[in-house]
Amino acid sequence: MGIINVKGTHDIIGGEAENYSYVENVMSQIASFFAFKQVRPPVLEHSELFVRGVGESSDVVRKEMYTFDDKGGRSLTLRPEFTAGIMRLIVQNKLLPISELPLKLYYCGPVFRYERPQLGRYRQFNQFGVESVGHASPYADVEVISLAYTILQSLGLQNVTIKINTLGDEASRDAYRAALKDFFKDKVENMCEDCKMRYQINPLRILDCKVPSDQEIVKDAPKMSAYISEASQKRFSQVLESLKAMDIPYEVDDTLVRGLDYYSETVFEFHYVSNKGNDYGAIGAGGHYDKLVHEIGGPDAPGVGFSFGVERLVSVLCDDGLLEQADLPLDAYVMPLGIESQKNALMVANELRVLGYRVDMCYDDVKLSNMFKRAEKKQAKLAIIIGEEEIKNEAVVLKNMETKEQITVSLEDLGNKVDEILMEKGE
Ligand code: HAM
Repeated sequence: MGIINVKGTHDIIGGEAENYSYVENVMSQIASFFAFKQVRPPVLEHSELFVRGVGESSDVVRKEMYTFDDKGGRSLTLRPEFTAGIMRLIVQNKLLPISELPLKLYYCGPVFRYERPQLGRYRQFNQFGVESVGHASPYADVEVISLAYTILQSLGLQNVTIKINTLGDEASRDAYRAALKDFFKDKVENMCEDCKMRYQINPLRILDCKVPSDQEIVKDAPKMSAYISEASQKRFSQVLESLKAMDIPYEVDDTLVRGLDYYSETVFEFHYVSNKGNDYGAIGAGGHYDKLVHEIGGPDAPGVGFSFGVERLVSVLCDDGLLEQADLPLDAYVMPLGIESQKNALMVANELRVLGYRVDMCYDDVKLSNMFKRAEKKQAKLAIIIGEEEIKNEAVVLKNMETKEQITVSLEDLGNKVDEILMEKGE
């Protein structure tokens, strides 16, 4: 075989690409109903942004970044997530402070992580997400969760599980880290090399370890909930009460710590097992952060956001029959009789395309019966035949593929006639 795609990447073709556009359009439209504005940060950033923003104890930064030196000797990284880059964009473009907070932004595009590819896990994948920055209100968290929930509902996903937890404020996390250090002190020697390092940099990360023998040890570790300050408890209760009032179902999961270092207070994940029983992992996740903007050189501004994995979303929607996989049917298929008629056929096709119809034409010099077969295969509603005679008379033959009715129409009247036939069908 010749050159193939890079491991962990995937080609998105035809009907599947339409599915991605559809899902991304639904998400963008709903984000704009919630008064979020679109931003498009670059894919390449200075590596330091992610080390400072996402955190050096996270697996994403330690093991999964596509980092390289460019020809000018700069260490650059293909973004492994959006949030740090969005904060850089906000700080650098002085989008804060503004008269009314929060600043609400949404984004969509490819991200890169050097992970082991498996079901729902790629090395290049797409994220859609939002960040609401500059207001500490617990209702900003609720707004963001309800936006994500509205998107999932609008796409038709009914049985979404929202797992939610609080990591508390800085004081809560400091107290919890100290308790974890104490607990793991005489156990860490027997744990994996990663956990030994996590113990030094951020013992919270040990809770995420996937090594079975380490997970056994983790089971008996102190629980986060015992170390949450009163203020953080109150804030979390306000979030939960508000979700309840809005009929947004959730499950409090006090083992949920999230894998990125910037979170504090509310964290959450969206889970969904498709009707086929496929579990693609979390289809989206997010949370609140306090220090990220400051870390990147900006003012003290808290924020909250989430990102969906678009591949995972499209996969569950396909599994549950909520997306059409087929290519969209044609409005018209233009069939030139002989090579000499192709130029005129193309002009006719284009005229209908600019009127907003989906039109294709035949480039092969084949029999009319063959072209009709092709029109049927493409589910064309109309066939348009154009030959020497029609060119001379400045007309075409228009055949309604459903009723089989066939008429000759002048080029001048073609647009109106197509409108008439397709409108009648409710197109
Ligand atoms: P994350 O949990 O690392 O959070 O990723 C968000 C989502 O991206 C996941 O829930 C999953 O659906 C998808 N995802 C992650 N890794 C892969 C992969 N290898 N292949 C396919 N999909 C994947 C973040 O990235 C945070 N920036 C979210 C956030 C925004 N927090 C606050 N604001």
